[in-house]
Amino acid sequence: MTAQTLSVGLIGAGRIGRLHAGHLAGQIPGARLGAVADVQLAAAQEVAARCGAPVATADYTDLLADPTIDAVLIAAATDTHATIIAAAAAAGKHIFCEKPIALSLAAIDGALAASGRAGVKLQIGFNRRFDANYRRVREAIVAGEIGRPELLHIISRDPAPPPPAYLATSGGLFLDMTIHDFDMARFLLGGEVTSVFATASALTDPSVAAAGDVDTAVVVLTFADGAIGTIENSRRAVYGYDQRVEILGSTGAIAIGNNHANTAIISDRGGVRRDPPLHFFMERYLASYRAELSAFVEAIRLDQPTPVNGADGRLPVVLGLAAERSRREGRAVRPAEVEQQAALPTLA
Ligand SMILES: NC(=O)c1ccc[n+]([C@@H]2O[C@H](COP(=O)([O-])OP(=O)(O)OC[C@H]3O[C@@H](n4cnc5c(N)ncnc54)[C@H](O)[C@@H]3O)[C@@H](O)[C@H]2O)c1
Repeated sequence: MTAQTLSVGLIGAGRIGRLHAGHLAGQIPGARLGAVADVQLAAAQEVAARCGAPVATADYTDLLADPTIDAVLIAAATDTHATIIAAAAAAGKHIFCEKPIALSLAAIDGALAASGRAGVKLQIGFNRRFDANYRRVREAIVAGEIGRPELLHIISRDPAPPPPAYLATSGGLFLDMTIHDFDMARFLLGGEVTSVFATASALTDPSVAAAGDVDTAVVVLTFADGAIGTIENSRRAVYGYDQRVEILGSTGAIAIGNNHANTAIISDRGGVRRDPPLHFFMERYLASYRAELSAFVEAIRLDQPTPVNGADGRLPVVLGLAAERSRREGRAVRPAEVEQQAALPTLA
């Protein structure tokens, strides 16, 4: 490593880890892929070989003990994140961690305290903040182009549910999938949510209900200033990844649609049609994943705050826990209730 090049160790070489590895292999200025760890050694070896990393290991603590590794990118299964954050922080490594930080506020607070004590940089993987469409919406809100935001509608539908093994450790729909939309709601409106009402069903695949999860949901958010937001999720949009937003403000509205591989529109006697939207997050958000990593590397190199910090990672989990409680209890839940519950001492 040169003094200018940050060596990043990847922990978790699954779907998203492979994508990040590809970016670290020459697409992020000032950074390189220094090592890959995955409990499935063959996966680590395959990604390391393909992306030119000199080290592949089944044990992520090898990366933490390696003085040539400056930062880690945690893309392992959700239930490992908090433990790995704490260990990486203790080893003095800067940390980029995929969402969610953890599934409980106690685990999150422990991880955030560890990174704070160590004084390392921490960025959470809310990549949509780096997408050109969403950024333009945020810019419009900040510049007052549509006046005061009053209604927000987020449509967020996956093409197909993930495999059962993924569902088992994902934390469920609200903490795995809707969490991106909770972050987007906060990011776009620039305000905090005071009430969450959620209703949800399992409709797409028997494996979802078997995992105790849901795949179809509507969440209603009320913001501190009275603005109202809805989030609509499905794990099955047969035509591809459906990612749209509309905000109505006091002087206008702004909307973003889906991204397509091409702009061709075919018209004939039977109708007018076009190719489906980009299929899933790997295609739709590719540029945003590269941009978030560049921002992380720049924050380290310039010793500036990361653009998506630990508090940004924690708040959407609070909203996800509130949504889960809301759907179980059939009532609107205040995020403060979730915080209070988390603060209660547990009985031995
Ligand atoms: N930001 C996004 O858009 C986005 C997209 C997909 C996934 N994610 C998040 O990334 C994480 C991984 O998701 P995925 O879809 O890649 O899952 P995945 O199941 O495809 O991959 C997870 C990998 O982690 C490995 N792993 C598990 N425990 C480990 C440990 N202790 N040490 C090292 N490796 C370990 C597994 O062997 C597997 O290869 C999840 O937390 C998920 O929420 C974020």
